[in-house]
Amino acid sequence: MTKYFYLLIVSSIIWSCNQEADVPVVEQNEESLAMDYQQQGTIIVAESKKALGANLKAAMGRGGVEEAVGFCNLKALDLTDSLANLYAVEIKRATLKPRNSLNAANVSEAQILSVWQDKLDESQEILPTQFEEEDKVNFYSPIVMESLCVTCHGVKGESLTPEVEKIISSKYPNDAATGYKVGDLRGLWHISFTKPTIQ
Ligand code: HEC
Repeated sequence: MTKYFYLLIVSSIIWSCNQEADVPVVEQNEESLAMDYQQQGTIIVAESKKALGANLKAAMGRGGVEEAVGFCNLKALDLTDSLANLYAVEIKRATLKPRNSLNAANVSEAQILSVWQDKLDESQEILPTQFEEEDKVNFYSPIVMESLCVTCHGVKGESLTPEVEKIISSKYPNDAATGYKVGDLRGLWHISFTKPTIQ
């Protein structure tokens, strides 16, 4: 328990240095760890999305698409890894059409994405979902394309200009992450919680 207490203190300090004061802190006590993974997953996804989005926009502001692609290339995985450490979970962005092959969906992620895609095709709502294993709880939340995103993931020759395509393909020669329109399902956030061991 002491570990979680220190984690909470450290995370509060880190967050208060980087963020505005109203950042919600995920409580790491036994009760909240045992229950309500859905709520914690929702907060962790929101914070991760906010952190990636803020860094992406800042990089775009500093040096346009080139700088922002450089940021995603070098820092996106580091950033999700450090958030994962902060919250003591695993965080993954997974997709069926990866730009970085490390983000390729595994079998269960691919199944969830295909169920969600079928729902979207039938104009049904897609919602976060969670599955429990013996020692883990897996929380999944959809990633949907917004207008900012299609600058780098859009349809070639349309929202994805030849200039941007060139910048991206120089770093990702096997890029599969294009052809998307606003509202398309791009992938999912997968937050994996390890259940506390009962002694
Ligand atoms: C400036 C270009 C750029 C913009 C804008 C952008 N991305 Fe990306 N995206 C990238 C790059 C580059 C990667 C590969 C990151 C890496 O190597 O880890 C990536 C990776 C991803 C991944 C991980 C899966 C994969 O294919 O590797 C997801 C999911 C994703 N982007 C979603 C989005 C969403 C949602 C938005 C809009 C909010 C967005 N992107 C905006 C460039 C961009």
